Amino acid sequence: MEDLPYKTILCDVLVVGAGGAGCRAAIEAANHNLDVIMISKELVGKAHTAMAEGGYNVSLGNVDPDDDVETHMRDTIVGGNYLNNQELAQILVENAAERIYDLEDMGAVFDRTPEGKIAQRPFGKQSWRRTAYASDRTGSEIMVTLTEAIRKTSVRVYDEVFATKLLLTDGKIAGVTAVDLKYGDYLVFRPKAVVMGTGGAGRIFSVTSNAQLDVGDGYGMAYEAGAELIDMEFVQMHPTGMCAPKSAVGRLVTEAVRGEGGILLNNKGERFMNNYYPQVMELAGRDQVARSIMTEVLEGRGSPNGGAYLSIAHLPHQIIEFRLESMIEQFDDAGVDIRHDPMEVSPTAHHFMGGIRIDTNSQSTLPGVFAAGECTGGVHGGNRLGGNALADTQVYGALAGENAAKYAKKNERLGVNRKEIQEEFAHLEAMLIRTEGVSPSDAREELTELMWSKVQIFRNEEDMAFAVKELRRIQKEVVPKIKVDVNEKRFNPGWHQALEYEHMVKTARMVAEAALMRKGNRGAHFRTDADPNDKGYYNIVIRRGEDGEMELRKEDVVVTKIELP
Ligand code: FUM
Repeated sequence: MEDLPYKTILCDVLVVGAGGAGCRAAIEAANHNLDVIMISKELVGKAHTAMAEGGYNVSLGNVDPDDDVETHMRDTIVGGNYLNNQELAQILVENAAERIYDLEDMGAVFDRTPEGKIAQRPFGKQSWRRTAYASDRTGSEIMVTLTEAIRKTSVRVYDEVFATKLLLTDGKIAGVTAVDLKYGDYLVFRPKAVVMGTGGAGRIFSVTSNAQLDVGDGYGMAYEAGAELIDMEFVQMHPTGMCAPKSAVGRLVTEAVRGEGGILLNNKGERFMNNYYPQVMELAGRDQVARSIMTEVLEGRGSPNGGAYLSIAHLPHQIIEFRLESMIEQFDDAGVDIRHDPMEVSPTAHHFMGGIRIDTNSQSTLPGVFAAGECTGGVHGGNRLGGNALADTQVYGALAGENAAKYAKKNERLGVNRKEIQEEFAHLEAMLIRTEGVSPSDAREELTELMWSKVQIFRNEEDMAFAVKELRRIQKEVVPKIKVDVNEKRFNPGWHQALEYEHMVKTARMVAEAALMRKGNRGAHFRTDADPNDKGYYNIVIRRGEDGEMELRKEDVVVTKIELP
C-alpha cells in the first residue's frame, strides 16, 4: 500500500480528552505559557462529566462543622476497602477545597446554605454531609464552567478528533496518532508531554450510566504503549439506574435521591435495606446497595423490570423541585411523577476504579505521559465514594496539567517513527477497505452482552473463565476482521465504532482477567464462590509484556497513613 497522507501538528502539551479532568489539565498547562492542544472525540462540553449529577466531595464543614480532611481521608480508604494508593487519596482530600474554589472563581454556581456558604448533602458511606452540589446537575455546572474558561485561555481545541495510539521513542512520549472524525484526515500530534483525560469505559457493559464515548480508549492506548494499569477488576455498579423504558435503561438516578431521604422498597412494599445494612440503610456503600437490590430481585421480590422501587413521595415537594429537578424531568419523560410515584431502579455500570497507574505527580509509568480522572487507577481503591469522582477530575486534572507543563519545559520534542505511523494508519484504513468481515455494531453488542452477563455484580469462577476465554478469542479472531459497511472517512459513525472497538476489547480483557485472578471478595468485586482465605489486600497490576501477552501480577497494598484492619 502507498504511504497514507497525514498532517503533523506540533505543540508543547497535548491533552487527550475534554471532560472535567482534561479541561482542568489544559487550563493549568496553559497557565505555564505553553502551546497547549486539547483534543476531544465529541464537541467540547459533551463529555461524560456533564452527566455527573449528585456532587463533589470536599470537607468544607459548611453543614457539619466537625468534618475535616482526616475524616474525608478515612472515609475514602474505608470506602475503597483499603486498596487505595493512600498517597493519591491524601492528595485528593487535601486539595479538593482549593479546586472547588477555583471552579467558583471561574464562575461555577453551587447551591448555598442559608448563610450563603456552599451547601453540602449526605452521600453514601460518608461520616458527614460533605457533597457539594448544584441541584442534581453538578457535573453539568462544572463542564459549562470549564468550557467557558477554556475559551479564555490560549488552549487550541480540536473537536471531534479521536486519538488512536501513543508513540514512544526510547520509552518516552513522542507523539499521538489521531483521526479527524469530521474530515477523515489522519493526524500526528507531536507534543513534549501528554495528559490522558480519557474517562472510563462503562460502555463495555450493555447497561451503563455512561455517555456513548466512554469505551476505554485511554486504557487501550496506555496498555498498548506498555504503561501499567492497576485495579481493573473493580467496576462500580451504581445501584440506581433507570430500568424502564427500554430507551432509558441504565440512565443514572443520582445518589442524591437517597441522600435527600429516598427509600428503597421491594415488591411487597418492604424497606429492604433494613435487612442488609440497618445502621446506614440506603446510604450504605454503592456496592452494598447494588448487591442488596439484586438479592431482592433474585429472591423474587423485585419490581417488574428487574429492580426495586425508589420513593421520595414522603419528602416535601419543595425539596424535590429544588434539589432534584433533573430527576423530575428524567422521570417525567418516562411518565412518572416522582413527587407522587416511586422510580423503578436497578444497578448500572457506572465507574472504573481501576485505570492507568499514576504517581504523586500524576505521571504514568511512561515518561511524559500524565493522566487524570477516571482513566487512572489507585485513588479510589476497590470502591469509590459517590462524589469523589468530580473532586478527582479537578484535583488530578490540575496536578497532571501542572506536571505535564513542567515536563514539557524540561524535555525536548522527540522524533517519531514514520514506519510505526504508517502501520497504524494502514491498520485503521483496513477496517474501511476490507471486503468481508464482522460489523462493528454486531461485534460491540456481543462484547457488551458478554461483559454484562459474565463479569457482573455477582461473579463466579465459571462465568469469568468463560468471559476470559471468549475475550481472548475475540481479540484473536474478531478484532482483525472488523469491517465498516461504508468506505467513507468523513464523519462515518460506523468507522468511529470500529476505531473504538479494539480499545473496548482490550479494556474488557483487563477487567475480566484481573477479576478472575482475584479469588476473594473486596469492594466492587464480589464472587459467590469467594475464597475466604483470600483477604485481598493487594492490587493487581497489568501491563503488556515484551511478547505482546497480557501480564498480571499482585502487589501488596502500601500503607502510608491508615493501617489495614
Ligand atoms: O449518583 C450520583 O449522582 C453520582 C455521583 C458520582 O458517581 O460521583
